[in-house]
Amino acid sequence: MIHLDQVSFSLIHSGQKLSILKNISLSVAKGEVVGLLGPSGSGKSTLLALLAGVEQATAGVVQVNGVRLNGLSSDQLAHFRRQHLGVVFQEFHLVPTLTAWENVALPLDLAGLPGSRQRAMAMLEQVGLAHRANHRPTELSGGEQQRVAIARAFVGCPPLILADEPTGNLDQNTSQHIIDLLFSCVAAWGSTLFLVTHDPQLARRADRCLHLVDGCLEGSQPCG
Ligand SMILES: Nc1ncnc2c1ncn2[C@@H]1O[C@H](COP(=O)(O)OP(=O)(O)OP(=O)(O)O)[C@@H](O)[C@H]1O
Ligand SMILES: [Mg+2]
Repeated sequence: MIHLDQVSFSLIHSGQKLSILKNISLSVAKGEVVGLLGPSGSGKSTLLALLAGVEQATAGVVQVNGVRLNGLSSDQLAHFRRQHLGVVFQEFHLVPTLTAWENVALPLDLAGLPGSRQRAMAMLEQVGLAHRANHRPTELSGGEQQRVAIARAFVGCPPLILADEPTGNLDQNTSQHIIDLLFSCVAAWGSTLFLVTHDPQLARRADRCLHLVDGCLEGSQPCG
């Protein structure tokens, strides 16, 4: 599902080259649940951005579900995301002018799938937000926005779900409910889940965990 070969990502900041990710190679099989752990600033969200085709690797090969992302145009990358991915970004990236309901329906509408309104409402119910369906993102709490982002990522039953700290804004009970939902969805659909987390409760349920330290992938270590 995911193949990275010698991937690096660097950028120029104030005239200086910053190496954010260094020579990352990894493979994730279809149906695996992989946790990505590491200190703040180690490059976890940047790695997710490369897998989502939001950033382009400056070296190495990024291949996701058989698609080589290097050198694709922004239109091709948008098409790739619609076909293969659900993403929960760390900052959510909900569309501010759309309601919660419309945000969740959006991936289905863009793919031209029927029944988007009903499916979006069913997903909002599953994350406990049916009563906020007509609220815009600014009218929702941080944890509510996070659950809308989760509903949007899952509504199309995508083969790969990328989630950046998906329980970061949730209380213990809501978090447990959302984790159960994530795992029941990926089990039911055979999807692959690649998630960044600082939450030991969530990390323990991954099949394996990868550790990023200062942009380098360390060997596999226990998840808990
Ligand atoms: N556009 C940018 N310009 C300059 N530096 C950047 C830029 N984007 C990311 N960085 C730097 O890259 C490093 C990795 O950032 P990233 O967001 O991937 O970390 P992270 O592991 O997700 O951290 P956190 O756990 O806090 O979310 C950080 O040191 C950050 O300051
Ligand atoms: Mg991050």
